[in-house]
Amino acid sequence: MKKLRWGLLSTAHINRRLIPAIWASQRSELLAVASRDIQRATEYASQWNIPLAFGPYEAMLDSQEIDAVYVGLPNHLHAPWSVRALKSGKHVLCEKPIALSVEELNEMEMASRDSGKVLAEALMYQYHPQTQMVLDFLKSGKIGRVLHTLGIFTFKHSRDNDYRLLPDQGGGSLWDIGIYPISFTRAIFQRLPDQVHGTEIQGATGVDMSFWGELLYTANQGSSQFFCSFETPYTTSMVIFGETGRIEVPRPFTGMQEAAQIFVYDVEGKQTVVSVENKDPYLCEIEGFEAAVFGEKPLTVTLAHSRDHILIINALRRSSQTGHSVHLAG
Ligand SMILES: NC(=O)c1ccc[n+]([C@@H]2O[C@H](COP(=O)([O-])OP(=O)(O)OC[C@H]3O[C@@H](n4cnc5c(N)ncnc54)[C@H](OP(=O)(O)O)[C@@H]3O)[C@@H](O)[C@H]2O)c1
Repeated sequence: MKKLRWGLLSTAHINRRLIPAIWASQRSELLAVASRDIQRATEYASQWNIPLAFGPYEAMLDSQEIDAVYVGLPNHLHAPWSVRALKSGKHVLCEKPIALSVEELNEMEMASRDSGKVLAEALMYQYHPQTQMVLDFLKSGKIGRVLHTLGIFTFKHSRDNDYRLLPDQGGGSLWDIGIYPISFTRAIFQRLPDQVHGTEIQGATGVDMSFWGELLYTANQGSSQFFCSFETPYTTSMVIFGETGRIEVPRPFTGMQEAAQIFVYDVEGKQTVVSVENKDPYLCEIEGFEAAVFGEKPLTVTLAHSRDHILIINALRRSSQTGHSVHLAG
């Protein structure tokens, strides 16, 4: 069986989630890591038992031994390095947010189309069976028409020298973790909101340390609220309110592999507990990516979805900067 030969672009913290997933997949092989600094790449390769080390990044992109690149760079580098990787004939799995503007995404999409290589945003939770289960419940009418969603993702930020605190590197809680409830809501309503309103608390470096947002789906008579923050301990939650019930997902974005459950309430408030398949979301993501590369299944997170995530986030930022609601094409 042909295996996808992966190269990691950088020695990022997040690699430690992807590496076991690539190892665990039957159809992938972790072959290389690249760093700006060849010595760092060599040490990292030896620490993680990765056969090849490259430095600088271009050296790995030029290698004929690599089929797919995982881009785990700071957010402002996602677009330029994904484009370079695609132009070098590599498939690209790029961390979220895939880009910081629609213009960047357009350029990436063009590079993907021209090279015939797959490009995908690494929103791993969307590949997990729990997310599909929730969307299937909604489609089957289990809680009736969706009126409102409430999403939360917070953690206490403590890392020094982190791009998350730098405005010119795509920092801030909205780009980092607000994207999770926003993308879940996008998957539920299957469209852009008609209008958004956002409010942020800025930190000393000028990024949003906390962000509260409201999305209005006027045409669906639906709405959504979310809160994301670097300033309060780890919390995740997604609650979906329907005309005849409610679904609560305590671990919608991370940690769903640890015996997670979701709670479904009917019109009388009677609770049903549903157990979630105990699977690593990063492995689900790698398998979903492989299926797209091998032409078996379309991506779960398409570039059209990614475009909506970017439009919503930039509209929320404009709203928080101006104090006014921002209208989006419905
Ligand atoms: N899906 C998830 O669960 C998840 C979780 C966490 C983070 N992420 C995403 O993963 C990406 C990386 O996050 P992270 O926390 O892993 O980042 P990180 O540890 O700061 O790593 C980023 C890497 O990028 C390279 N780099 C290149 N230019 C750089 C620059 N100017 N400043 C700093 N580093 C630079 C460095 O590698 P070299 O020195 O080796 O070149 C560095 O190790 C982000 O896009 C984030 O949104 C996703």
